[in-house]
Amino acid sequence: MRLHMKIALFTRELDDLKTEALVLGFYENLDTGDIDRYSVISDGLLEEAVRDKDFTGKFGKIFMLRLKGKVKRLILVGLGKREEFDIHKAREAAGKAAVYVRDQGVKELSFNLFEDFNPSDGAYAIVEGVKLALYQFNDFKTQGLEDLKKINQFTLVASGNNFVDVDKSIKKALTVVDSVYYVRDLQNKPSNVVTPTYLANEAKKIAIKFKIKCTVLEKNDMERLGMGGILAVSRGSDHPPKFIILEYEGGKETICFVGKGVTFDSGGISIKPSQDMDEMKFDMSGGASVLGIMQLAVGLKLPYRIIGLIPTTENLPGGNAYKPGDIIKFHNGKTSEIINTDAEGRLILADALSYSKRFNPKAVIDFATLTGACVVSLGDLYTGLFSNSDELANKLLKAGDLSGELVWRLPLNSKYFEYVKSNVADIKNAGPRYAGAITAAIFLKEFVDCKQWAHLDIAGTAWTTKNGNVLNPCGGTGVGVRLALQLLENWKK
Ligand code: BES
Ligand code: MN
Ligand code: ZN
Repeated sequence: MRLHMKIALFTRELDDLKTEALVLGFYENLDTGDIDRYSVISDGLLEEAVRDKDFTGKFGKIFMLRLKGKVKRLILVGLGKREEFDIHKAREAAGKAAVYVRDQGVKELSFNLFEDFNPSDGAYAIVEGVKLALYQFNDFKTQGLEDLKKINQFTLVASGNNFVDVDKSIKKALTVVDSVYYVRDLQNKPSNVVTPTYLANEAKKIAIKFKIKCTVLEKNDMERLGMGGILAVSRGSDHPPKFIILEYEGGKETICFVGKGVTFDSGGISIKPSQDMDEMKFDMSGGASVLGIMQLAVGLKLPYRIIGLIPTTENLPGGNAYKPGDIIKFHNGKTSEIINTDAEGRLILADALSYSKRFNPKAVIDFATLTGACVVSLGDLYTGLFSNSDELANKLLKAGDLSGELVWRLPLNSKYFEYVKSNVADIKNAGPRYAGAITAAIFLKEFVDCKQWAHLDIAGTAWTTKNGNVLNPCGGTGVGVRLALQLLENWKK
């Protein structure tokens, strides 16, 4: 359903360009050199706009000049202070300019590479920013489709640069954003479509397309394997649970990604309030990200053995649903008392983390929309990070800074275990109100064998309901894909 935007690279001189809208980036306090360069193309209007302070180059500010020549509109975008400019600002400025142009109803757009920037990095940031910002999800609209504003063609102007490198960079950015789009689409589809079976079928499709191995454990397999966590959570739902395993043999060292795949979280018997409950269709975001990471890793031929594990189920109340007070036994033999059936994510992850041991991984990284408490701590800006390894934690922090998918480390002090001690079982699935993101991580730790494990709580970053961040339009963000890619690309460095 999604219309594809064509991307072209333009390598001739700017004067030859014919376009509906050309985006030019300017730093704050433009000097005459900056202006003179474009004075012919802008027909003197740029000088005027700067002189009258209609445009000052302040970061993110946009001003449009309507022209009469081959370039119909000049879109001036402020890049802020030169010394503060970086790849993240480039991405954001590009996204803002693209959205502005689209909202004008213009369907075709060109971008001049930002100055003072390695052209390949600059091209990468622009393509990433433009595509991330222009994402739309219209799969379920049947009316008014002709009126939707869309950019069909996008041209990157790279006059005088090494366009072989720039072209490579563009292709890579497109591959990465394709994977982000894939994840966002899965997140945004409702839970009456994206069931555990649907996710399992997606995994099978990926396996066929990318020639990797896919195994889906069914309910009877889970029973045989003693996966009492996912089995308990799934009991209230008529949709059978699935445990998805994807294996990509790209090298010797094994890295395992685990994603929470709760396709709808009503809370179960400990039912959630109806306010915002619709957003719980996003509770499979971790699982979706792992599907995206797997296809990206294979697509880019990353040199590792990468395993993706996705326990997927619904969490609903029902006649056969699991209940507060129940005691369940996990794949590794440990037991938990159920205090709250809404703390279901940790239960399905417990089985998956225990199961990951059989792949003998060097590192295990899980993505989960695990706790409201994490959203209270970090909001929508940072993903919560918990790890038993400083080395892995630091790698993830760095990957966050490089990709722009920020992470912040929170403590995993074993003294917090006190909070989840049970009188009747090895652990209980919910503690007091305080430190909720930490106690969830402490719970998971009981099921981890690997010396390098990290838990990423994406409850605050997986989706957004406001248009605050231009790179993340309303709905699923696809968080995790670009973070994991950075991590893997710098793994050996
Ligand atoms: N999926 C939710 C966490 C969540 C809530 C993510 C809101 C994003 C926004 C999770 O399964 C959950 O319900 N957690 C409970 C745990 C509590 C009962 C110990 C929570 O955070 O309230
Ligand atoms: Mn829940
Ligand atoms: Zn949940």
